[in-house]
Amino acid sequence: LDEEAIERYRDCLEELPPIVVDKETMTVLDGWHRVEAHKREGIETIPVSYDDCPPHLFLARAYALNAKHGLPVDNTVRDQIIVVLSQGKDGYDPMSEEEIAQKMGLSQQRVSQIIASLLGASIFAKDKAKVREAIRLYLIGMSQVKVGEKFGVSHTTISSVVREFTKRKDLISEHLRSRGHLKSVVNYPQRGPWGDAKFPGNTSGYLLVDLINYYQPRSILDPMEGSGTTGDVAFDMGDIP
Ligand SMILES: C[S@@+](CC[C@H](N)C(=O)[O-])C[C@H]1O[C@@H](n2cnc3c(N)ncnc32)[C@H](O)[C@@H]1O
Repeated sequence: LDEEAIERYRDCLEELPPIVVDKETMTVLDGWHRVEAHKREGIETIPVSYDDCPPHLFLARAYALNAKHGLPVDNTVRDQIIVVLSQGKDGYDPMSEEEIAQKMGLSQQRVSQIIASLLGASIFAKDKAKVREAIRLYLIGMSQVKVGEKFGVSHTTISSVVREFTKRKDLISEHLRSRGHLKSVVNYPQRGPWGDAKFPGNTSGYLLVDLINYYQPRSILDPMEGSGTTGDVAFDMGDIP
């Protein structure tokens, strides 16, 4: 909760509109700050306007109500709500863009745009060749905005793949700093974020970190790369072809 909002509300409790509560479950859909302001003033009752909302639409309804007043909800929260509704999680049918727009108080065009850009971002993030090319361009000095434009995704998508890349490089540095010497029998308690943990027989990326660090290869051939662990580590350790 936003402390400043609560403090502001404490001074004008009588002027605030009723909070919105789902009648069946008594869940507060809108007005958490007002509730908190009343509590802090020691007032035990609050004007309520009742709503009738199925639980799986609580967040969408809360978003729609919230958008009408002061404290805007973060766009990532909005996007998560849209993803959940459009995929139909928790046993509910997927909702159409039109229905989502209506429930959330957005235009259908806006919902379409958001879904298209989320979809674009997730397709991009799964395309290793594109992600690597984007990181290369960023590393030679292209701005995240420009890289995003080149791949048709937002700069926040680029900044998130760059952040993941930096995190993986930190893991590599930390591993190389803390491990003992490479031995003929090795054991890696963790596999790290490279390749795919779900792939049958996947290798720990840390084995590749050690091998690459030891042999310092100019190029690598892995004829059984499976989920791509070797390629992932090779990229992170200096874009080794
Ligand atoms: C144990 S997995 C390697 C897993 C990989 N290191 C990883 O972390 O995901 C072995 C891989 O070799 C592939 N493979 C087996 N025989 C092969 C062959 N003769 N030629 C090319 N690939 C082969 C399998 O399909 C499988 O993807």
